[in-house]
Amino acid sequence: MCGIAGYVGPREAVTVVFDQITRLEYRGYDSAGVAYKNGDGIKVLKRAGKLSNLKQLLDSEKPKAQMAIAHSRWATHGGPTDQNAHPHFDQHELIAVIHNGIIENYYELAQELKARGHTFKSETDTEIAAHVIGEEYEITGSLADAVRRGVKRLRGAFAMVAICKNEPDTLVAVRNASPLILGIGSGENFLASDIPALLPYTREVVVMEEGDLAVMTRDRIRLEDAQGKEKLIQPMHVDWNIESAEKGGFEHFMLKEIHEQPDAIRQCLSGRLLKDGGVQLLNCFSDEEWKSFERVVVIACGTAYHAGLMGKQMIESVLRVPVEVIYASEFRYNNPILRPADLVIVISQSGETIDTLVALKLAKEHRAKTLGIVNVVGSSIARECDEVLYIQAGPEICVASTKAYSAQVATLALVCLQMARKSAADQEKIFNLTRELQRLPNLMETCLERESQIAEIANQIHRAPLMFFLGRGADVAACMEGALKMKEIAYIPTQESPAGEMKHGPLALVESGVVAVFASTNPLTREKVISNIKEIKARGGTVAAIIFDSDEQTAHEADFVIRIPHVDSPPIGAALSVLPMQLLAYHVARLKGCEIDQPRNLAKSVTVE
Ligand code: M6R
Repeated sequence: MCGIAGYVGPREAVTVVFDQITRLEYRGYDSAGVAYKNGDGIKVLKRAGKLSNLKQLLDSEKPKAQMAIAHSRWATHGGPTDQNAHPHFDQHELIAVIHNGIIENYYELAQELKARGHTFKSETDTEIAAHVIGEEYEITGSLADAVRRGVKRLRGAFAMVAICKNEPDTLVAVRNASPLILGIGSGENFLASDIPALLPYTREVVVMEEGDLAVMTRDRIRLEDAQGKEKLIQPMHVDWNIESAEKGGFEHFMLKEIHEQPDAIRQCLSGRLLKDGGVQLLNCFSDEEWKSFERVVVIACGTAYHAGLMGKQMIESVLRVPVEVIYASEFRYNNPILRPADLVIVISQSGETIDTLVALKLAKEHRAKTLGIVNVVGSSIARECDEVLYIQAGPEICVASTKAYSAQVATLALVCLQMARKSAADQEKIFNLTRELQRLPNLMETCLERESQIAEIANQIHRAPLMFFLGRGADVAACMEGALKMKEIAYIPTQESPAGEMKHGPLALVESGVVAVFASTNPLTREKVISNIKEIKARGGTVAAIIFDSDEQTAHEADFVIRIPHVDSPPIGAALSVLPMQLLAYHVARLKGCEIDQPRNLAKSVTVE
């Protein structure tokens, strides 16, 4: 995820901000840059690749400044190049801007600006924002006013910092959903997108709130709310050490990433799922191509494969278009049947999984149209696919995938809605899928608020020698993912399958001490699932059921109940039930003292076949 840093004060400012973004390196980035006052103008230095590339440039330029901003970029709009790295200038190079997040209406704004003669040097939404602020500066002659007015023209989730060559001691920062923190010094002030970047300099911080704007000089910070009303600065004292600060105060990256899911989904949907329910997938196949697909083939491994199974549930039930989901490691050896009207979707968080990459190349040899659903921008799979949709989940550090899964499912829902335009799709299901997708971040927040109840259940079941993960329909796809989490990080053997299959063999494994986690989020199959719960209990097994708030019938049968909010679209309800399963696996692993972020025998990016 991108990193922001800013400083004004007596120290050598570029050194300070470079050090600050170095402290955010663990979050992942692919290019970086700084801007500082230099003589009469603002100098911008930026480089793609590692911070060491930027450092070389800084060493040769030897900047001297008392005010600077810096940014480390994790590409979303436009690849990781020197040109796309931040900071970006406005049209007249008076103002430099750095930015985290996404400007949803960048495309419309770019068209407007072009019509007024603006030209751009990068492919980024950030440069568009800089030009908007530059236009406002021409009218107001004040950086703070220009930012205030400019952000009203921007839509999306972002944190942004601007400096102006005519106001050499002032940084203006604005927060709209993405985090931004002010660091209070004595005769100097700092800002950053994350607390670890501030800790070597100050432990007195102010976390900006939604809509806040800060005007920072070395002696003063004026903080105002979205209505322009001045707010009292009330710093909080941070006493975390640097390591726990990197994890945002969470004990493990996995827990942090689980809790990042609502924001990851907001970022993923930003600019793509419009307020009126329309879908806009820019630069991704023409309308004609979308209409031509008659079958979908999904290729992926592990968690990404499980996201594909959820995509199958959506696309088949809503569109009645057949979907085949194939393990990438099996694809090349099974003499795959691909037809000209097939859409091949390749899903990968890292974009480097070799099984998936090899399968993709084979699909291309068959002349299939390929779409990548990828997290890491510029990765091999992203480059190899005909088209790519980035899931925009931010870097995932824990080996066990969590937020990438949810963002992969959300991206598949967007693909489903995009394809729905062409077919005789079920309008009620489309309506429900769209509405529940819009609500998904908030629904996730509700699930995460209930973590302490899940931790308590983990306490009761963490000694189980075997766990079943059982459901029906889309809940089976969710159970596959929940079980993988339990295996990966808690090292508990699991069996995951349709609940109805138990009586055909696996029921023989059930005895006292064995735990069955049921996901039951579809009222149409509720009674059947209750019968399956009774089958487990009759043989001495313990049942934990993940069910809707309203489902008293199932609650009555289970030993432990984990509630999630009611959802009207079965694949979205099932995908939501994965969050409690992630938390359950996490708390079981924690109680067992397992190495959570780096489980034994596993790697984050699997580059061997
Ligand atoms: O980077 P990818 O999405 O291609 O990785 C695929 C799998 O290796 C990955 O999902 C793996 O299963 C995770 N460790 C699951 O948590």
